[in-house]
Amino acid sequence: MKKLIAGNWKMNGTLEESRSLIADVINSASTTSGLLDKCDLLVCPPFLHIGAVRHACYGFAELKFGAQDCSRHENGAHTGDISASMLKDSKCSYVILGHSERRQFHAETSEFVARKASWAHKAGLEAIICVGETHQERENGHQNKIIAEQLKNSIPLTAKDGSGAITIAYEPVWAIGTGNSATPEDARTMHAFIREELEKYVPDASKIRILYGGSMKPDNAAELLHVENVDGGLIGGASLNAKDFLKIAKAV
Ligand code: PGA
Repeated sequence: MKKLIAGNWKMNGTLEESRSLIADVINSASTTSGLLDKCDLLVCPPFLHIGAVRHACYGFAELKFGAQDCSRHENGAHTGDISASMLKDSKCSYVILGHSERRQFHAETSEFVARKASWAHKAGLEAIICVGETHQERENGHQNKIIAEQLKNSIPLTAKDGSGAITIAYEPVWAIGTGNSATPEDARTMHAFIREELEKYVPDASKIRILYGGSMKPDNAAELLHVENVDGGLIGGASLNAKDFLKIAKAV
């Protein structure tokens, strides 16, 4: 399956920095022959920068856009929320949901993630559903139980009946932003487990991409991206530097 290399820019950068970052990404991507035959490239800027980033990509239709979250409501009196259909309207095709920073700091439950994902599906977006265990949970040997629960409760009916597309991102919380990525062996074991769990919920589980995220960098990307069932990467810190982001894509 074609791998997906996704940049999660998080809450970083001025408008001008986002424009300059996307210009560098396009420049490197368009001068690397064959790159986009091997992998899909996705960038997820902060909400307010999505329009400007998209305008800067005019003429480079291969690049995909996404957001880092959406509302769990369809529309209406939800001050500060951004709906899935607004994202679609802004030409996003993906939305990241249930990132551990949202689960941890915004009290987001798996049930909320499932509701958001079903609105994303109704709007025609693909939901990137993030799952991951904490350091403590892994120390206690509970990682499989935690991931199984998160998958069970975060996958919406719209994915179970095959009407909406999902990608899963396995992002161990202890690996995010720490410089300590999972080992290829940890990734192999967990991604195989996630694939097995997916079989319980969705038709065609073998066709669903399972991304690895958590301190993926140019120097460890090749070994992680070549692990069986690792179908791409969700990249935070390294996606803020176009050279590093493209080095990771080239590792595919
Ligand atoms: P990181 O973040 O690459 O900076 O570890 C990954 C993520 O949070 O999606």
